[in-house]
Amino acid sequence: MKSSGMRAHVVLAHPESQSFNGHLAETTRSELTGAGWEVTFSDLYGLDFDPCEAPRHYSKRADADRFHAQTEQRFNATEGSTPDDVEHEIKNVLASDLLVVHFPMWWFGMPAMMKGWIDRVFVYGMLYRSTMRYDADACVGKKLLACVTTGASADSCAHDGREGDTGMHLWPALFPFRYIGFDVLEPEILHGIGGVAFVEGEDDGASGFERFTKNWSEQLQHIGDRSVTPYNSDSDFDANKRLRPEAPSFSPFVAHEPSPPWSQR
Ligand SMILES: Cc1cc2nc3c(=O)[nH]c(=O)nc-3n(C[C@H](O)[C@H](O)[C@H](O)COP(=O)(O)O)c2cc1C
Repeated sequence: MKSSGMRAHVVLAHPESQSFNGHLAETTRSELTGAGWEVTFSDLYGLDFDPCEAPRHYSKRADADRFHAQTEQRFNATEGSTPDDVEHEIKNVLASDLLVVHFPMWWFGMPAMMKGWIDRVFVYGMLYRSTMRYDADACVGKKLLACVTTGASADSCAHDGREGDTGMHLWPALFPFRYIGFDVLEPEILHGIGGVAFVEGEDDGASGFERFTKNWSEQLQHIGDRSVTPYNSDSDFDANKRLRPEAPSFSPFVAHEPSPPWSQR
């Protein structure tokens, strides 16, 4: 897709820039740049990004005695003293039409670096607040595309696979992007990449690389055709924020019937 005037921000959350994820992120950068996008790139480990939200990041404090993260995020946003590394990321996110995040599946979720980027960059009082969430948020109109690798095979990660359904694992992981207004595109999930089979020598780890990269390049060329994850709109919920009986349900996470085994009414 040839694009003019479109901007993308690419985020890599992997400790090794020469990893499979690193190469995929570079492919994203070069493919989008070649298609006319203006691209910014954050290699979070390369930048030594600190993923831990903590008092040490704030030179000014609303309450110096007791650290409350959302209070300090909002206070510092108002004071213009948001930490520089966070400010840099927010600037790139807000300037972009598309955010592409690259990370490996680590323990059935995103690595702490990716999660911590969300914790710190999705600043309360800037990217969301109580009156500015979901359908009415800072990132409405922007698209989020996650490219995720698993060590386990596609079969192991299927709906009936031994590792559990990766799509289900990613639903809550990607929900923060929906929370601040993004259209969450269907994630790209590449299975069987450098997991324990690679470490234990049953897999050379390289066989699929060119095939995967070529396929990812093609996916990027057709990004406009990618489906958007359906979520309920604000109007689907009643005054108590429960799903209205007539509203559609798009996932077991927001459903008319509870799902076992830990459901609460
Ligand atoms: C701490 C850690 C946890 C992991 N957890 C999972 C997991 O839950 N599911 C899975 O399929 N692979 C898991 N893996 C394997 C990685 O997903 C796999 O090595 C990675 O996707 C390969 O991409 P890379 O070469 O860019 O690192 C884990 C790896 C590490 C280091």
